[in-house]
Amino acid sequence: MEKWNRKKLIKEYIEFFKSKKHKEIANFSLVPEHDSTVLFTTAGMHPLVPFLLGQRHTAGKRLVNVQKCIRTGDIDEVGDAVHHTFFEMLGNWSLGDYFKKEAIDMSYEFLTRILKIPIKNLSVSCFAGDKDAPKDEESAKIWKNLGIKKIKFLPKSDNWWIAGETGPCGPDTEMFVNGVEIWNDVFMQYNKTKEGRYEILKQKNVDTGMGVERTLAILNNLDDNYLTDSFLPIIKEIEKLSGKKYGKDEGETRAMRIIADHIKASVFIIADGILPGNVERGYVLRRLIRRAVRYGKELGIKDNFTCKVAIPVFQIYDDYEILRKNKTKITEELEKEEEKFRKTIEEGLKAAEKLFSGKIPIERKKFIKLMQLPNHQEILKELWNKKREGKDYSIKEANISEKEIDNATITGKEGFLLYQSFGFPAEMILELSREKNLLFYRGEFRIELEKHQELSRTSSSGVFKSGLADSSEETTKLHTATHLLNQALREILKEDIHQKGSNITAERLRFDFNFPRKLTADELEKVENLVNKKIKEKLDVKCEEMKPEEAKKSGAQGVFDSKYREKVKVYSIANFSKEICAGPHVKNTGELEKFKIIKEEAVAAGVRRIKAILE
Ligand code: ALA
Repeated sequence: MEKWNRKKLIKEYIEFFKSKKHKEIANFSLVPEHDSTVLFTTAGMHPLVPFLLGQRHTAGKRLVNVQKCIRTGDIDEVGDAVHHTFFEMLGNWSLGDYFKKEAIDMSYEFLTRILKIPIKNLSVSCFAGDKDAPKDEESAKIWKNLGIKKIKFLPKSDNWWIAGETGPCGPDTEMFVNGVEIWNDVFMQYNKTKEGRYEILKQKNVDTGMGVERTLAILNNLDDNYLTDSFLPIIKEIEKLSGKKYGKDEGETRAMRIIADHIKASVFIIADGILPGNVERGYVLRRLIRRAVRYGKELGIKDNFTCKVAIPVFQIYDDYEILRKNKTKITEELEKEEEKFRKTIEEGLKAAEKLFSGKIPIERKKFIKLMQLPNHQEILKELWNKKREGKDYSIKEANISEKEIDNATITGKEGFLLYQSFGFPAEMILELSREKNLLFYRGEFRIELEKHQELSRTSSSGVFKSGLADSSEETTKLHTATHLLNQALREILKEDIHQKGSNITAERLRFDFNFPRKLTADELEKVENLVNKKIKEKLDVKCEEMKPEEAKKSGAQGVFDSKYREKVKVYSIANFSKEICAGPHVKNTGELEKFKIIKEEAVAAGVRRIKAILE
């Protein structure tokens, strides 16, 4: 069998689609410019959202690229042979040009002629149809005519693709080699609105995605992505640093994979301008580095090692200019964060040890039983709610009594103290407590965290953007004004406006949003008038806590990261505006007095900025 490596696969893919009249576009930043619904670029389509919705792309209607992606939803799964936070995605797009027939024909040709995958090893799945869209007989027929015998029809949960909760989406057809999915052709002809409706798009698009690491593994007959040349040099470096052998011990192999994945992802995140911090992307980065350091300790690595693990990352990805340019900065930031963490980790582990020794662990057998229940996360979550409501919270399925639960619980407050004193993220406390058969509930921890953040008058919590620099009375008012502005823009411009960024000082608000052109003086006046009208109406501002899914369902605007399943705050201004937001806000819009737009300008293609003040 022919040997495939990363560069060859990428080159063949791009060349193939270029020969089919596609233009190669840039590999974009991991920080999505055109899509505020996600923290990181999770697929090649994110930078293309405005163009899938109908805006003209300067490179034309047929595009191809390889895109770096981060999926934070998979952090906890990293450690097996196939999950990664960072990966590269090959993709080709039709922006209102070709559709199902050509897309499938090209996919088939690439798989069989270029990658030389025997047709007997290929199978596909197509959308089975439901109330929102019909069964995709058309795709199935095309595959059948090409000679594919194994064709399955599957429901929306399998064969429908959407990036987040709203936006361009549609049925897809997935391609499998010996049962492993390697490519996905999405037929994006719908736009899902925040009310949950599927509107037909102006144009029919194709969005495809092929994972580089997974495809390489399959082409080289490997059942472990970490053995492909996208990872192997990193693994070798970790073997050298730890003196341990990859593949020998299950726990050690897992640790090596986690380190390799997390340091690779961190290198790319820092290259795109993010630094370790306590909110949003910075927090994800901090968590990745700290988790890698912790697993390094587990492997017995004594000295600082993250910047050494980064060296093979620079070598593998020497085709990324952004890594070459930022090499020194990346190395320094890794070193700095590792140093910071190492200093506290020793003390923290001791403190955790002490805390844990005061608890009575759940009997091992029962604990394993609990963890093996497919719905154990739900059970644990419900447990705390039940306890709060005074209901029976014993876990019958694993025969664990209320008393056993109480004895084995690390409370939110206790966990928060570890976080506050030693910088242990909640996930780490969870992992440590699990190792000891103890229980820790992140939701309770987050409540503590939020309480603290409100007390210390700092800004947002978790991933939900508030864009607040501090919480003085002035900024609080401007914050509420931002929500009014956001909704007023949507009503006046009659467009699906989303926040692209927000920054508030005591003097002014700054709000970035998607819109393709300059606003007219008339539009600006109307927006300003509508905000002032809502101020005069003296509307009550209400805050409710709910699950992110409920928040989205209720039509709340907001940045949504599916990783965070705990409750979020939703602020409503009468029935005018509803947003997921960490607050704080005024109690009544009457407090704002008078709103005035002082500037409207462009910040990027398709992104406008408004600056406004309160008088
Ligand atoms: N955007 C599609 C995916 O990520 C192609 O699978």
